[in-house]
Amino acid sequence: MMETIKNLLIEKFKFIYNDLPQKFFFAPGRVNFIGEHIDYNGGKVLPFAIDRGIYAAVKFLEKDVIQLCSNIDEKIYEIKFDDDLDQYRNTHLWIKYPIGIIQALKNQGFRFKGIAIYYWSNLPVGSGLSSSAAIEVLTAYVFYLQVKAKNQIDRVQMAILCQQVENQYIGVKCGIMDQFSVAMGKKNHFILLDTHSLEYEYIKFLFPNVSIVVINTNKPRKLSDSKYNERRTECNLSLEILQKNYKIKSLVEASEEMLNDLNSETLKKRTLHVIQENRRVQNIKQLLNSLDVSRKDLEEVLQQIGKFLYDSHESLKNYYEVSCYELDVIVEESKKISGVYGARMTGAGFGGCAIAIVDKRNVEEYIPLIAKIYRERTNLIPDVFEVQIEDGVNEL
Ligand code: GLA
Repeated sequence: MMETIKNLLIEKFKFIYNDLPQKFFFAPGRVNFIGEHIDYNGGKVLPFAIDRGIYAAVKFLEKDVIQLCSNIDEKIYEIKFDDDLDQYRNTHLWIKYPIGIIQALKNQGFRFKGIAIYYWSNLPVGSGLSSSAAIEVLTAYVFYLQVKAKNQIDRVQMAILCQQVENQYIGVKCGIMDQFSVAMGKKNHFILLDTHSLEYEYIKFLFPNVSIVVINTNKPRKLSDSKYNERRTECNLSLEILQKNYKIKSLVEASEEMLNDLNSETLKKRTLHVIQENRRVQNIKQLLNSLDVSRKDLEEVLQQIGKFLYDSHESLKNYYEVSCYELDVIVEESKKISGVYGARMTGAGFGGCAIAIVDKRNVEEYIPLIAKIYRERTNLIPDVFEVQIEDGVNEL
């Protein structure tokens, strides 16, 4: 598999740049298992990096020029190190992500050599699997490697830099979860990340008989960025109001009793989701930690985990209001199919992807079945695929 992709990258690079690449890199996408919309509220989240993502073939150049090309449009974009990079901020082109990173590194005083990069992605763009975090972290990693050894790169700091680019340059007020997952992923492990302190631990995924399936709604996500920022504003407002009467640092510290202080139904619902979602993460953590593969009640534990996933979805649908008809159909229909333990939307919502955890014995039936039912009910053709839990960004 890897050799096939490398050969493809070499062929593409030769065709585009008329030259051979020197190095190859991969940055994964991410799936959030649970802990949705709480990474900007000080909550704990449980994401992991996946085996789909963005590859890069790279050649360092003698001339002072940065060349960027990707399989999105196969065009070469050329920028000079000293160009005014702010001008790309409002473009609708994909290059604003790598350029945002280059500008941030420049502001940190980096001085790098010329470079030609060809990006190739097998991650659906804008579908809630963090394609933007993947290209940001990938670009940062490639540029850092020009001036640092691999083990000198502080991956957490790199994730923070990428999040700042997303917040300030791209204008999406996202939390740290996506960039952190892409930078810090670990094969066969979930990352339990405390988004307030940035402390994290890896929790081994111990279910050899379970598959994680991603279902991409393929629904265009038009308003997702503005709706996302709106949710953030609502949470900030709730926090401000509660802080007048309670000593809390972030919204996850609120409790149900405090909700009466919020004078709007909307703010109450948003806050309730935040409180309960954070609790679900803690509950799943406990279940995972208590797990022993030889346990006879493994099945029961899976049912319990699955129930938390369903509850999370309900809450995102009814309280946080970031789901949509298409995601609801996937979850509702998955519930009826045998071998499915749980399902929920993953990522920001408003379209994008759902995940389902499915017994391995049933997964071959589940994939075409959910695709068929989804198509009948929505007129959209979904992409449905199993994912593996992978390492974060690396040189290949
Ligand atoms: C997007 C953001 C993340 C996070 C999720 C929702 O993926 O980039 O920071 O807020 O939505 O959990």
